Amino acid sequence: MKIVLAYSGGLDTTAVAARYTDEGHEVVAVYGELGQPSERERAAGRAEKAGVVAFEVLDLRADFTDAYLGPALTANAMYEGRYPLVSALSRPCISAALVEAARRHGADAVAHGCTGKGNDQVRFEVAVRALAPDLDVLAPIRDWEMSRPEALDLLAAKGIEIELTKASPYSIDENVWGRSCEAGILEDPWQAPPEEAYGWTADPSSAPRDAVEVVVGFTDGIPSSLDTRDASFLDVLVALNEIGGRYGTGRLDMIENRRVGIKSREIYEAPGALALIDAHRHLEDLCLERDLLHEKARLEIRWAELVYDGLWFSPLREAVDAFFATTQQGLTGEVRLRYSAGRCHVVGRRSPVSLYDESLATYTDADSFTHADAEGFVRIWGMPTVGWAQVKER
Ligand code: ARG
Repeated sequence: MKIVLAYSGGLDTTAVAARYTDEGHEVVAVYGELGQPSERERAAGRAEKAGVVAFEVLDLRADFTDAYLGPALTANAMYEGRYPLVSALSRPCISAALVEAARRHGADAVAHGCTGKGNDQVRFEVAVRALAPDLDVLAPIRDWEMSRPEALDLLAAKGIEIELTKASPYSIDENVWGRSCEAGILEDPWQAPPEEAYGWTADPSSAPRDAVEVVVGFTDGIPSSLDTRDASFLDVLVALNEIGGRYGTGRLDMIENRRVGIKSREIYEAPGALALIDAHRHLEDLCLERDLLHEKARLEIRWAELVYDGLWFSPLREAVDAFFATTQQGLTGEVRLRYSAGRCHVVGRRSPVSLYDESLATYTDADSFTHADAEGFVRIWGMPTVGWAQVKER
């Protein structure tokens, strides 16, 4: 069989590449570049020793940013109100790339290195089947029950040395939207995350003393400038990951509900994503009409659930995105973010399409609001409740 493998260069996927090769399959190892700290050199070396027929690096950063992170920002997407879907967003993007690679190589199947306990197996398999019903999707780590020592032996036989002691106790997944970290001591929800579990952000107590401000500009709801200089969404995101990381912002520690029924404890670092979602939300507060804003907020919850649950390629996600797209047309403006130790918050916003009317809001003499109109409005607004209260009284 010819198999396209989603390959990270880590212990698990290298063991998969080695064993498939030993079983006589042809393995095409595909390493997706999504803005994570690069492991491509090491991955290339290990893939070759494992005996793959091809090793490919696919630069998915532009596609990931435009087709996945843009909609996520538009949706202010946070699963269970907190998690900005770091890993969940990358899976459909990688799946599409795997399918494309499978077509190019004339492969029979794609394979991923997920276990049977996580969400990522759901996301990969649903996505691949939606895009390419004729391809097999293989989940060797789920099927084989290969122990870590067995995997290490297999690799050592091929000259791939991975020291178990050096292998991190954590399971980490990273892309430009953030970093997910689980397992090890984090499995005890009472234990505070040790500093070493974090990889992107400084300990807030050692962050710079002086606050700093940045201004993010948005065009049609997508970041388009930083401190008045034109910049791509990806550039703005990378810059805010750096600033937020230095200031120790963007850390999350949560218990979340997986699609497969397990509660798990995860920590995340997403300084850029969380800052941008907050800024974007503040711009919407300024510019979107009240009912639209409220309805959008309800759909945002649904959108995040769909994407978390592996239903990126679904008619509901597409339809909700079409609705969101109408809300972002012309959504232009700027948001001021202030960073101080451990904290990033919005301190100002302005827009040429702002619906904020100072003459209506003001408590000064410049007030243009017709106060007399309020009396009748309030009386009629409260009529049903007042009527109900009187009947209850009797
Ligand atoms: N729990 C998160 C999710 O389902 C992150 C999973 C990422 N995987 C990992 N190896 N840490 O989206």
